[in-house]
Amino acid sequence: MPSFHCITYGCQMNVNDSAWVARSLVRMGWVECEMEKADFIFINTCSVREKPQHKVLSMLGIIRDVNPQASVAVAGCVAQQMGEKLWEKNAHVRLVLGSDGIIHAPEAFEKIAKNPKLRLSYLKFTKEFPDRISELSFFKNVDSLPIGTLEQTTKGNDTRAFVNIMQGCNNFCAYCIVPYTRGRQKSRSIQSILDECQEWLDRGICDLTLLGQNVNAYGKDNAGDNPHFTDLLYKVAELNGLKRLHIVTPHPRDFCDDTVNAYKNLTVLAPRIHLPLQAGSNAVLEKMGRGYTNKDFMNLVDKLRKARPDIALSTDLIVGFPGETEEDFQETLRIMKEANFIASFSFVYSDRPGTKASKMPDKIDAKIGLDRLNRLMSLQNDLSDAWLKSRVGVETDVLLEAVSARPKYSEVTDHNISIEQVKNLSQQTEELTNHTSWQGHDSWGNTVNLIIPNTLNYKAGDIVPTKIVTAKKHSLLGELLIK
Ligand code: SAH
Ligand code: SF4
Ligand code: F3S
Repeated sequence: MPSFHCITYGCQMNVNDSAWVARSLVRMGWVECEMEKADFIFINTCSVREKPQHKVLSMLGIIRDVNPQASVAVAGCVAQQMGEKLWEKNAHVRLVLGSDGIIHAPEAFEKIAKNPKLRLSYLKFTKEFPDRISELSFFKNVDSLPIGTLEQTTKGNDTRAFVNIMQGCNNFCAYCIVPYTRGRQKSRSIQSILDECQEWLDRGICDLTLLGQNVNAYGKDNAGDNPHFTDLLYKVAELNGLKRLHIVTPHPRDFCDDTVNAYKNLTVLAPRIHLPLQAGSNAVLEKMGRGYTNKDFMNLVDKLRKARPDIALSTDLIVGFPGETEEDFQETLRIMKEANFIASFSFVYSDRPGTKASKMPDKIDAKIGLDRLNRLMSLQNDLSDAWLKSRVGVETDVLLEAVSARPKYSEVTDHNISIEQVKNLSQQTEELTNHTSWQGHDSWGNTVNLIIPNTLNYKAGDIVPTKIVTAKKHSLLGELLIK
């Protein structure tokens, strides 16, 4: 049977798509292995900024060097954008799969395995959501699913799952390539979403994330059963076995009062929302075409906090959008503080071909962009530190995900260590042999480490009551709360 290797760049959609491709190939009897040995290499790509796109092109060069025999499939946003042009300089690329074309991956791989001279491309956008069989039933008796990339951490794979509820985006924000690479928005039917959610829950997964480029515009493209996003939330929340529900990524403009109320009524909705602000200045927001002002954004934040006082927000931010002045940038810093974001993904604006912003005048000098990014990140560090410190003393639930490495007495190589420290360490090591050091996440997405006695027989996927005792730089330490 042929072997394959997956490389995944980009957003959670790509991670989710790659995992499905890997499951489909394993179901066909194919074997996942390292890149150097694989007969087929599947690269799922991102073109949201110039850098990730470059990474893909240089990866194609690396593959040519380390595994010249391999047949390569390129999927995702770069594939959609470049299409068959990818064949021009890359003789080893046999398969190009656009965003909606990925559903054809299994049959296309099979065809090329039979006839390695073939070159195939699937680049057309479909009218309807390209629904596919989850392939989960094949893995009923298998604990660990193939995840579609050996390079990604496996943590969370068997405790959390993504469920795609829509494809594409209609917003055409001035800077963004996604509407071109993912096509128009298409919602998946409620029944199909509920069925897949239930399949995950039946596997014992209790933490689900509903995925879409503009997830809370779900249904606005009038899918067959004319669903509304909030109705979907209520329906998913009722499913047996669900303990945590997340949504990624909602658009502030599409966040209606009904959805805000859902955060009040449904405790299963995690109290952490990733809500992209992009910029704090009204002039920049207007030019970006985001459809809200900074005041609208803050009104929404206030409503959410009233509905769910424990809510924490994270965001996406762009600095150096064409024409952005220092005053505009200061507005971004101001709103960051007001909204008190606990984390942010921040980027220097990158010109994308065909977008409105790429044709705008007054491009910002790269140095200025970088300087703004550094200042923004420094503020974010302060906000994130303060957030983690504020968690100390809080009693919360932690979803156990993986056993984390712990130092062993025998591994201590520091010879300057004092006798007292050696005694402490050996005592700790003895304690630790009867305990497991776990890593997991609280409902706000913070990483929490905690040590639990083995006699309690906890396993990955269990949710345990925890008291947060220490804040570290990027994570928290907790203690099991025996109630
Ligand atoms: N659908 C999501 C975003 C998807 S793209 C949303 O609407 O929020 C992920 C992030 O990449 C965006 O939120 C934005 O912050 C960033 N991004 C998109 N295009 C970019 C560009 N041309 N330059 C820099 N950052 C960009
Ligand atoms: Fe891009 Fe805007 Fe659509 Fe998000 S909402 S994917 S930023 S066009
Ligand atoms: Fe990238 Fe495409 Fe996702 S451009 S962010 S992989 S939708």
